[in-house]
Amino acid sequence: MFPPHDRSLPLLSQSNNWRSGSQTPDSVSVYEESSGTGDPSLVHKWSNDSSIVCVACSPKNHLLFCGTQDSRILVYDLRTFQRIREYEANSGSVLCLLVSDCETRLFSGGTDSLVRIWDISPRGELKGTYTVYSLIDVGDIFSIAWSESRKTVMFGAQNASLSYVQIGLESHVRGPHQMPFRRYDKFFDSAGRSTSAEDDATNQQGLGTLIEVPSQNIIPYAHNGYIYCMEMFTLQDGIAEHGDYTEFLITGGGDGVVNIWGLKSGIELLWSLENHESVLSFARNKGSTYLYCGLAHGHVNVWDLSTLQQIKSYESEEGDIVSLAVYGDCLFKGTNAGVTKWKSRGEIRSNWIDHNGCCHAVKVVKLKNDPYLITAGTDHSVALWDISVLDKAEAEQHPVDLTSTDRMLEVLAKLVEYRTVSKLPALYIDQSRRCANFLRTLLRNLGASHVSLLPVPNANPVVYAVFKANRPTKKPVRILWYGHYDVIDVSSTDSWSTEPFHLTAQNGYLYARGVSDNKGPLLAAMYAVAELYQKKELEADVVILLEGEEESGSFGFQAVVQENRSLFGEIDWVFLSNSYWLDDTVPCLNYGLRGVISATVEVRSDKPDRHSGVDGGISREPTIDLINLLSKLNADDGKVNLPDFYTPVRKVTQHELESYEKITSKISKLRSDELMAKWRLPSLTIHNVSVSGPNNSTVIPQTASASLSIRIVPDQDLQQIKSSLISYLEEKFALLHTENHLTVRVIHEAEPWLADVNNAANKILLKNIEQEWGVEPLLIREGGSIPSIRFLEKTFGCEAVHLPTGQASDNAHLNNERIRITNLFKTKEILKNTLNKLPKRHN
Ligand code: BES
Repeated sequence: MFPPHDRSLPLLSQSNNWRSGSQTPDSVSVYEESSGTGDPSLVHKWSNDSSIVCVACSPKNHLLFCGTQDSRILVYDLRTFQRIREYEANSGSVLCLLVSDCETRLFSGGTDSLVRIWDISPRGELKGTYTVYSLIDVGDIFSIAWSESRKTVMFGAQNASLSYVQIGLESHVRGPHQMPFRRYDKFFDSAGRSTSAEDDATNQQGLGTLIEVPSQNIIPYAHNGYIYCMEMFTLQDGIAEHGDYTEFLITGGGDGVVNIWGLKSGIELLWSLENHESVLSFARNKGSTYLYCGLAHGHVNVWDLSTLQQIKSYESEEGDIVSLAVYGDCLFKGTNAGVTKWKSRGEIRSNWIDHNGCCHAVKVVKLKNDPYLITAGTDHSVALWDISVLDKAEAEQHPVDLTSTDRMLEVLAKLVEYRTVSKLPALYIDQSRRCANFLRTLLRNLGASHVSLLPVPNANPVVYAVFKANRPTKKPVRILWYGHYDVIDVSSTDSWSTEPFHLTAQNGYLYARGVSDNKGPLLAAMYAVAELYQKKELEADVVILLEGEEESGSFGFQAVVQENRSLFGEIDWVFLSNSYWLDDTVPCLNYGLRGVISATVEVRSDKPDRHSGVDGGISREPTIDLINLLSKLNADDGKVNLPDFYTPVRKVTQHELESYEKITSKISKLRSDELMAKWRLPSLTIHNVSVSGPNNSTVIPQTASASLSIRIVPDQDLQQIKSSLISYLEEKFALLHTENHLTVRVIHEAEPWLADVNNAANKILLKNIEQEWGVEPLLIREGGSIPSIRFLEKTFGCEAVHLPTGQASDNAHLNNERIRITNLFKTKEILKNTLNKLPKRHN
């Protein structure tokens, strides 16, 4: 009965070149939308005398509808588990069923080329109110969607056409003479309901009003293959914006394409997403922007519709995925072999199987807030399964008020729960994307406009939003706030006294990974702007720009900002808060950061890992070569040995010396020479050395590699030092006269940054810090690096201003990271006082 999907059409594929230096997002994910590990437990199984092809549910009325191969709709009561009714529906087979969101209508489509629309009564009675047909031969109808706001039904068919029609319009109403079963069918074998005109009266009974799809509402070749599946998305669901479209239809076809259509009075194709196999089924989690696509040959592709990127691909040997459902991180796949549960967390793949034969339908439903799974297939059965054992994470989610500006700490609690570790995308890509979507929703709710996620190829998206000045002058000052929502991972939870991804409040502090670097400060800034905006007091335009890859060297950030340069307009000041005070008492203003070049150095032998007793002594060893080479990087006194490394470094001035002395006079435990070494002098660190093989002391490893970084300071040239590092290592390696091979890779780089402390913004900020804290702030530099600062300054031709929020004891990147609550609120107040006072750049 099911036609084979069209394999004669070209299958387009999606490359997955994840960035180097990090784990690839592959088919194993250990921390996703978390859920338990148990199997579904059977609640009830019903048997029938023919195959069940499709199911739909009305949870409000406790009703289950099943479409059968022999043209019926069966109705079950999910409280009594009785089959309460059955109806002759589409002649031939009922191929698809859909219940409207308000659960008052049921739609059925079938091999008779008709879409039937039924009114549902709470007791499960169905009354046929409309029958939709097309003047052209569309063949079987595989998929249906419904827009409640437009009162429009859409359907996808065997002849690759997409049709839509608004119901309740007089102009589309017709008599039965042109119904498909009255026409000679040149191509499709769609079975007729009857063949003679005498039967018309009987036929029309129960069909309700006949609606003919106007020919201009039929999009021929909407796909180059059968249209197997459809889903509706709205802007509220988080799909990417396109013009002023608010409703979107997603269709999946035998051509391997997912088409996204914008709905207005008509339907317009907006985007096409290419998969490498026919798209046979769709599934989604409520409240998520992911679209799971069940493909031919056992593949499932996952697309994030907020950025239109394919972010995962799962493979299995199970054959065509004809039906698909998802709940948390559990996929339920209907194939020729039945239905399987597949958990993307950890090693569990398919540990639960049911149905003898093909499983045509799988569906997750919530009945009284508990999750259930419905499965049905060619074994003539339909089953209801309890899957609440998988329901841990959702139950723990508490909604937060995202519109009120009084909820900053509650929102921070939510924000730190997302484990946004950019260095481990294979494990945490879902967390990062969900966090980006959460920030997008938050910004929208707080009043920002133009809120969107800017996709970064093979990386986490950039969140972009603008709070527009309430009283726009001719050309308001335009400020860009830069922050990052990614965090460093937690190596061992044992070294934490609290749960690292749960906000814990103790003695005036908040503890959690990322609370200081950088989720707390970025929220303080967002709420400062939102408070002004909601009180209609915002006098500047504030662009919010939050990246998800700062801890991975801001991968892809520069390219995305440059590609979207026109979005930003003319920026007057870049602001950020991503560093710390010198101690825990004196507030600071930061005016300098070092740059960084991070690299790996690898020495490799042509020979494999070997036994050191069996083979030791016959050839040069990579580890020894590497250690020899690394030893050349520093002189005996510890100074960096790269040629001319220190030559460009600025000489310290008398004025500068005085500024260091001022700091040490206020914080007595600090020493000027140490501060200078950290802030104004370059340094080189070897972070680790690792070897291939089992790491025991009888093996000669095939490869040895080290990761190192060089912190650079103003007047040192990043490009020059980068090439000097590579050529120096190559030169010294050549002198070792070894048969092993050397590879040097630069992983990321950042330019140093030094601000003018006397610029207009810093002057205002200094005054406001002092006013808020009642203490004169210290002007400080830092040894750490933020790759985007110099880049943003250069791109927008403006200066950056850096207000540290956290204290020295915040432990960023370490265990027990924390931030003092007072510091968050004070940063918010300082910014509220500052943002409206800033001058235009060239004043
Ligand atoms: N917030 C830090 C930068 C920082 C650290 C500023 C210490 C001031 C003092 C940032 O999150 C960070 O760790 N940056 C990395 C940059 C690297 C990944 C390119 C750094 O400094 O190592």
